[in-house]
Order: sequence, then C-alpha cells, then structure tokens
Amino acid sequence: MHSSRSSHASRQSHASRQAGHDVLVIGGGVIGLVVAWRAARRGLRTALADPSPGGGAAQVAAGMLAAVTELHYGEETLLGLNVASAARYPEFAAELTEAAGGLGIGYRACGTLAVALDSDDRLHLRELHALQRRCGLESQWLTGRECRRLEPMLAPGVRGGLRVDGDHQVDPRRLAAALLAACERAGVSVHRANADRLTVLHDRAAGAVLDDGTELRADQVVLAAGSLSGRLAGVPPQVRIPVRPVKGQVLRLTVPSSYAPFLSRTVRAVVRGSHVYLVPRENGELVVGATSEELGWDTTVTAGGVYELLRDAHELVPGITELPLTETRAGLRPASPDNAPLLGPTELPGLHLATGHYRNGVLLTPLTGDVMAELLATGTMPEVARPFTPRRFTQARQESFA
Ligand code: GLY
Repeated sequence: MHSSRSSHASRQSHASRQAGHDVLVIGGGVIGLVVAWRAARRGLRTALADPSPGGGAAQVAAGMLAAVTELHYGEETLLGLNVASAARYPEFAAELTEAAGGLGIGYRACGTLAVALDSDDRLHLRELHALQRRCGLESQWLTGRECRRLEPMLAPGVRGGLRVDGDHQVDPRRLAAALLAACERAGVSVHRANADRLTVLHDRAAGAVLDDGTELRADQVVLAAGSLSGRLAGVPPQVRIPVRPVKGQVLRLTVPSSYAPFLSRTVRAVVRGSHVYLVPRENGELVVGATSEELGWDTTVTAGGVYELLRDAHELVPGITELPLTETRAGLRPASPDNAPLLGPTELPGLHLATGHYRNGVLLTPLTGDVMAELLATGTMPEVARPFTPRRFTQARQESFA
C-alpha cells in the first residue's frame, strides 16, 4: 500500500516539466487547432492541450459559411472579417487537405437561399436585402415561384426569398479531423489533458499546468477554449474573458439516395422569430439547426427543442418528415458581449485570446489561424483583426469607472 507521501512523490515523478515551447494553445476545437497548425507552419515550436482535441462546438455546428445571410445591423465591422474569411476558404481547404495527408473538409460551393413564409418574414428579408446592398454584398431578390423553381421541395407557401450564391458550407467534423491531422503532421505536441491553471512568472504568461500533472512552459500562450475560456484558473483579474455559452440544438437527418436531389443548397428562414436552416451535404446528411438558448452549461437535447426545429423546418420543406432522423445533439456557442470574437493580446504579456466566435467559429477558422499566427510570429496583429482586440472590453470597463 502506498503512503500519501509516496503517492505524492510518484505523482511528482509522473508529472513532467516539458521543455519550453514557443507557443502553447489551450483548447483543441477548430479555433485552437487552426492556431496551432498555422503557428507550427511558421516554424514555432507549438504545444496544444485539450482532453479531446477535435471535439467541441464543431461536432455540433452545421458548417454554414453565412457571411452574407447572417449579416446583422451594427455588425458591419464583423462583416469585414467574415467576408475575408469566406474568401480565404477555397485556398485554405486545399492547403489543409494537403497538410492533412488528403483528408477533405467537405467544402461545398452550393450557395444559400433565405426564404420568407409570411408577410412579416418577407419584410424582414427585404430589410436584410437593403442592408446587404448598402454593404456592397451580392444577393438577389426572388419571388416565391422563383424560389421553388430553384428548390422544388420548398413549401407552396414560400412568399419570396434572397438568393445568396456566395454563402457556402463545410463539414465541421471533417474540418476538425483534418486540422488535428495537420497539427500532428506539422509537429504540434498534442497533450490530451485539460489545462487547469495558467502559469504566470514575472508578470508574464509562461505556460500551464495540466490535469495529468504535466507542466508546459511556453513563451506565448493562446487561450482558445471556446465557451470554457473564462474557466481557466490563474488568469489575473485585470484580464477579462467575457465569454458565455449559448446553447444550440441541432438535428441530423439522412436523405436516401433515391430522394436525391432533395435540396441543392442551404435553405434558411426566420420562423416566428427563430432561425432555422437546412444544410444538405453531398453524402446525404441533412443538418437542421439551430435553437439559441441562454441556459448556462446545459447541453440537454429537449423534446421542445427538437419539436420546434422540426416544426419550423417542416413549414419550409414539408418533405423532411419522410426522412430518417439520425442524430440530435446540443452544443455551446462561445459568445462575447458584442457577438464578435476576441482576437489578440490581453493585459497580461504573453497571453493572447482566440475565442468568442459565437455563430461564426467555422466561418472564421481560416482567418483566425492566419491572424493569430502572424501575431505569434511577428508580434503584430494584422489590420483586419485589430478591432477585435480583447482590450475593447477592459477599456470600456475602465472608461465606465473613470
Ligand atoms: N451560425 C449558425 C448558428 O450558430 O446556429
């Protein structure tokens, strides 16, 4: 039998203080993985910590690249980032597939059709169309009949819609798998453990202690733990990580090959104030999403959530009730107070954030990788990402107390 002293000693000997890295990324969802991969590609010795890398919100997300159809009033700055990342996707997909030894990410240039079911929805879409035009974005107004000509499975009641040929999709599960493979092939040291505590030495972030006892040292630390980002111990109080979880329930159905083509592009609408979208994959998967619920850390799939998604999706595309329902799942979007990501240095030297991507994590994956790798390699944040500095919240707080 071991005494507590000897078990402590054996834990200490099991615990390893790893030789220093240039970069430690905390969190192995698509954002953490892309940052680690791009940093390693820049020649930085990179480690990543996550108990199940490749998991997280990407396992639930539908993978819409909806820069134009998810445009909101007051989010024109975010639009610039979203559009830049959408434009980067084709080249990024090719680079990643090569780096991952041939794993594809299901990038599909299928376009999107946003439709209206009643006169309120129609008005809402007209407003969105006007905003898109003011922002110089391409979208085309269609009558209900024109919508059904494009997508014959749409309900006869569809009153009109917006055709957005530039909003495409990827398969987030394949994206996560390819990023993990690319990280491993690029020499990222992947630790399958949770980062418990940030290590701070001489007023600088210097690494983290993992729950398996490993102590990782690094010159720069990137916190990319999605909705869990605010939970890391050891972060000093002057660093604010205002990220909260927003639950999304999502369904997966299967379109039998005899039904194909069921839908040829993403179809979406706002029904009774809630977003519903149907994202058809080439392999027959049809993703129906998503609820948006402020329920803390709850990830229960509820009868009500499934019912509402099926009810709204059925109003758009009545034929979905014929399809096998193959999966129901809930995930957590990491949301910031202004719905935009937190990218860049914090008040603590050496600690950077890449989190808070909310509804746009998959869309912003390529650009987040690029800008964070540039910051890590050169110390300079590219212009396009500067408005998303985490310091915008610290400064706002200081000003409100001034
Ligand atoms: N961008 C889709 C969602 O967050 O539900």
